[in-house]
Order: sequence, then C-alpha cells, then structure tokens
Amino acid sequence: MADAAQDKTERLADAKFAGIEHCDPNTLRKLLIQYRFFTLYYIPDLSYLVAKLPFGKLRSFMAHILYEELGCGDENQAHPELYDAFLRSIGVDQESLETGIVENLAMLDEIQLSLLRSPYPYGVGLRGMGGECMCQIYLANLYSRFIHNPFIQENRDKVDWRFWEIHVGPVDVHHREETRALLNEMILHTPELSRQISDGFDASLKTWDQFWGNIVEAAKPSCAVETIRFDAHASTRSHGARDSSYR
Ligand SMILES: [Fe+2]
Repeated sequence: MADAAQDKTERLADAKFAGIEHCDPNTLRKLLIQYRFFTLYYIPDLSYLVAKLPFGKLRSFMAHILYEELGCGDENQAHPELYDAFLRSIGVDQESLETGIVENLAMLDEIQLSLLRSPYPYGVGLRGMGGECMCQIYLANLYSRFIHNPFIQENRDKVDWRFWEIHVGPVDVHHREETRALLNEMILHTPELSRQISDGFDASLKTWDQFWGNIVEAAKPSCAVETIRFDAHASTRSHGARDSSYR
C-alpha cells in the first residue's frame, strides 16, 4: 500500500510544483509561507499521537521525533522557528508570515480533532504514516525545484538554510524509513489494526493533496482565496483580518 501511495504522491507533487523553478519572488514566497502552518500543527499532533500510542518502539520513536521538532531543548532550534527564519530570510514580512489560507487551517484543525477523537491506529495512519512519510515527499520535491529559482540562486548566501539542512537530508529520510519500518512491524504483529491504519492513511493522502493543491492555487496571481490572521502563540485567529486578495 505505502509504495503505491509513495509513487502516486511523487507524481502529484511533480505536477503541482512544476514551474516553481521559474516563478517570481512573490509567488515563491506565497508558495512557501503556507507550509509553516503544517510545522506549527505537527508538534501538538505528534504529542497527541505519542499520548495515545501503546508502549513500544513506535511510541518512543514518535517521541524522539517530537523532541527534535521542539529543538531538543533549544527554542531557537524548534523546527517552526527554523522555518520562520527561512521565510524571513527570503523577504517574508511578519504580516504575511501570519496569514494562512482559511481552508488549509480548517483541514489542520480537522486532522487534529481526528487524532483526539479516533483510536490510535487511525492516528498512526493519519499523522505517523501520512504526516511523517508522505509530507517529506512533497517537501523534498518542493526543495528540489525552488533551489533552482533565480531569486534563490541570486540570494543563496542570505538564505537561512537550517530548516532545509534537516528536512531534505539524511535525517528526514531516516525518519521516513524508520517510521515505515516500525509501522510495518506493528501491522505484522497486530494485523487487526491494519484497517484503521489504512483508513487514517487514506484520509491523510487526500488531505495533503488538497492542502498543497490549495497552496498552489492560492499563489496564482488571478486567484482570490480567503485568508486569515493566525497567531501561533495564542493559537487564535483574528477573523477581522480576512482578506480575499492574498497579496
Ligand atoms: Fe521537522
């Protein structure tokens, strides 16, 4: 199941991100900003998953990934902080940084609610397999393209690369492979869980396809999307900041 899904996700990512190599700096920023919300939700999502999982290798490994996401004790190294540092280094201002696509934030909320409400095998498929394994494919594809963009090439020395050094290198590939190996082990030992894991995984594939599709659509000059101000620290949204022009 996962191999076929991986191939399909690679094809979807290829189709979605075609042209990023040549787009203008503003479009590039818009495409890259929205992933920040994934990084912000990923930490609580992983925490809920760790809280639900039974003792074992997968629970410990997910907790290990969570520890790394949090910066291993250094708040400046927390992955959302590194991603924001990257965005600022390519010229994203604070207001744009906090402007999320309404539909995508709703999807992230929905995933979080599913994790809380569903039994852990569903969460394993949704955020373990889907979040850790499949999102890395989108991310790697995005990276392989935007590094060739002339704006990035011209400003290479000014770009804060720390987030990408972690997320497209051997560390993230190891996370993906280790997560898959542990999930396979779990399914082998408890085949009765495979249905729920698979349901969670399917939901995840649909969500991330839609998530990235919305981002690409919203970055088009002609597209008007509904956006909203998202305060990561307060975890609240300012509904007064709705905007349909998304500049
Ligand atoms: Fe990360």
